[in-house]
Amino acid sequence: DWAMNNFIDYQKQKIQEQVGADKVILGLSGGVDSSVAALLINKAIGSQLVCLFVDTGLLRQNEAQEVMHNYEPLGLNVHYIDAKEEFFTALKGIKDPEAKRKIIGRKFIDVFKREAQKIPNVKFLAQGTIYPDVIESAGLGKTAKVIKSHHNVGGLPKELGFTLLEPLKMLFKDEVRLVGKELGLTANLLNRHPFPGPGLGIRVLEEVTPEKVAILQAADAIFREMLTSENLISDSSQAFVVLLPVKSVGVMGDNRTYDYACVLRSVKTIDFMTAEASQLPWNFLANVAQRIINEVPGINRVTYDLTSKPPGTIEWE
Ligand code: XMP
Repeated sequence: DWAMNNFIDYQKQKIQEQVGADKVILGLSGGVDSSVAALLINKAIGSQLVCLFVDTGLLRQNEAQEVMHNYEPLGLNVHYIDAKEEFFTALKGIKDPEAKRKIIGRKFIDVFKREAQKIPNVKFLAQGTIYPDVIESAGLGKTAKVIKSHHNVGGLPKELGFTLLEPLKMLFKDEVRLVGKELGLTANLLNRHPFPGPGLGIRVLEEVTPEKVAILQAADAIFREMLTSENLISDSSQAFVVLLPVKSVGVMGDNRTYDYACVLRSVKTIDFMTAEASQLPWNFLANVAQRIINEVPGINRVTYDLTSKPPGTIEWE
């Protein structure tokens, strides 16, 4: 693509001039924006860019391994930070959704700050900020009341004290994808569904424990894997499982069970401001439910969320 190559060449030169011999740090989330920003900056300054990937323990099944596996061949210098225990400790006993969001966001900043300080000569913080983010933070977008406090891996605060480097600031999402494609990002990484900063911390309702996260990861992996293998993933803008904080009675073979219930959530939306539940085929849903109950110890009941946004939100917390 001619226009995108032009953009890449222009940014490459601009980044080289701005950065000089200093180092740049970037929080890699595995999402499209931070990945494309990383590849673009890497093209300009190579190993002067250090990417930090923080494993919060709240990622999807195998996601941390996949991110490391997918990004290293692209030539990125990625530091893996195992912060799982720290996050679980911070979340112990916390039930309130807003409290959990704030704790996760705060913890992320603390871990990032600490790890960034270990790298010498860092002057710049790179972010995958795109044009819609700029509009939103300037208050020029829809002035919606804040329903949830957002935490975004790619959006770290100024308190870190670095100069910001935001090469995608003037691009829309579809342009970011085109640039990513030119830079060699594969289709599975380019077309990923959005994943919230607080991760599974807001999909395990109420208290988050490592055990509950593991149960949720297993169920969630089955749902998304079946959507992909049945070619239904394109009918969905975002699909995931939520673990409820309630247990119900069931029967397996001759035995009584008393285990968690979960919810399958799949929505269709253009802008994530409004959304409708996907009309997935009944027998598909039944097969997903059967597999989850058979394969995931700890879950004995599966439900489907029919709620639109509004009045519901996409996430449950
Ligand atoms: P809701 O639940 O508000 O979600 O309908 C709308 C979209 O935003 C995502 N989401 C988040 N993304 N940090 C993020 O980066 C957050 O704290 C956060 N909370 C919700 C959600 O997954 C959906 O795509």
